[in-house]
Amino acid sequence: MKALITGITGFAGSHLAEYLLSRGDVEVYGTYRLRSRMEHIQHLLNKVELVECELKDPHSVNRMINEIRPDLIFHLAAQSFVPTSWNSPTDTLTNNIVSQVNIFEAVRKYDFDCKIQIACSSEEYGMVYPEETAIKETNPLRPLSPYAVSKVAQDFLGYQYYQSYGMKIVRTRTFNHTGPRRGEHFVTSNFAKQISKIELGLQQPKLLVGNLQAKRDFTDVRDVVRAYWLSLEKGEPGEVYNIAAGTAVTIDEMLQTLLSFTDAEIEIEVDPSRLRPSDVEILLGDSSVFSERTGWVPEIPFEQTMEDLLNYWRHI
Ligand code: GDD
Repeated sequence: MKALITGITGFAGSHLAEYLLSRGDVEVYGTYRLRSRMEHIQHLLNKVELVECELKDPHSVNRMINEIRPDLIFHLAAQSFVPTSWNSPTDTLTNNIVSQVNIFEAVRKYDFDCKIQIACSSEEYGMVYPEETAIKETNPLRPLSPYAVSKVAQDFLGYQYYQSYGMKIVRTRTFNHTGPRRGEHFVTSNFAKQISKIELGLQQPKLLVGNLQAKRDFTDVRDVVRAYWLSLEKGEPGEVYNIAAGTAVTIDEMLQTLLSFTDAEIEIEVDPSRLRPSDVEILLGDSSVFSERTGWVPEIPFEQTMEDLLNYWRHI
């Protein structure tokens, strides 16, 4: 069986490649761009087939899809950092929406049997009222950033291509996920990296933070990529599934967990440039529909994930 991962050089993509390879029955293909950094998949380069492809360019996508003709597509490539979407909204919208349409159109054009998972996001729920938690898939979508709007569009395009053409598309709305290799701008990695620099004396013992009151539901990336596999193995085409641990912590509690793994004396300082025009205050997901359908439950405890992440930054 051939599986294609868009975004294989990224955080979740590299973990998914490892997971698929560990199964032993999957040939793994992945797309990259000339400017992609390879550090996350360096150790896999002789085990996966990489194809250069600019997903925003329909010709490049057609060529790549026709060459590989995958049985499974995991579409993870995206501009995924929320603050970037305020600085360059058109880039985020174009990148995330157009790339996905190009993939759908290429699969339609060559008309072969293929299941497609698309990485949607809990950010789509956006403005959530406390009484609406834990959030179910039926909750209204009230996006609060251009990034969230781009994910709503990806999500609805997945629904529309399933309805219009019967394409086997499964949508996953993943809540926050983290672990080793998480990009340094995302909050868990950003704080872990600062702690590791402070430990080495490379940063004053002052940790810069943004909004510590927001609540997020964190799952380990290694549990998330297993969910992506299950979404295509056992999920129902046309459906949308929340992927979440089902527990929320404030960003401050997450920070305290990281700090519990260090002896360094650290002062916390709010950096106003880290505050967002509108922040999603609470994301706490109900993934019971997905668990009942696939048997998935997250296995890695939050504390373990945070310790692994800190150790990742200590050893990089
Ligand atoms: N990045 C960052 N840096 N966030 C901070 C900081 C900081 O210094 N301090 C506090 N925060 C708060 C943010 O305001 C937000 O409420 C929360 O920490 C999480 O921020 P991020 O890690 O940047 O993630 P996100 O929740 O905006 O988005 C992530 O999760 C989505 C799923 O819900 C990303 O991974 C998205 O791609 C993903 O779709």
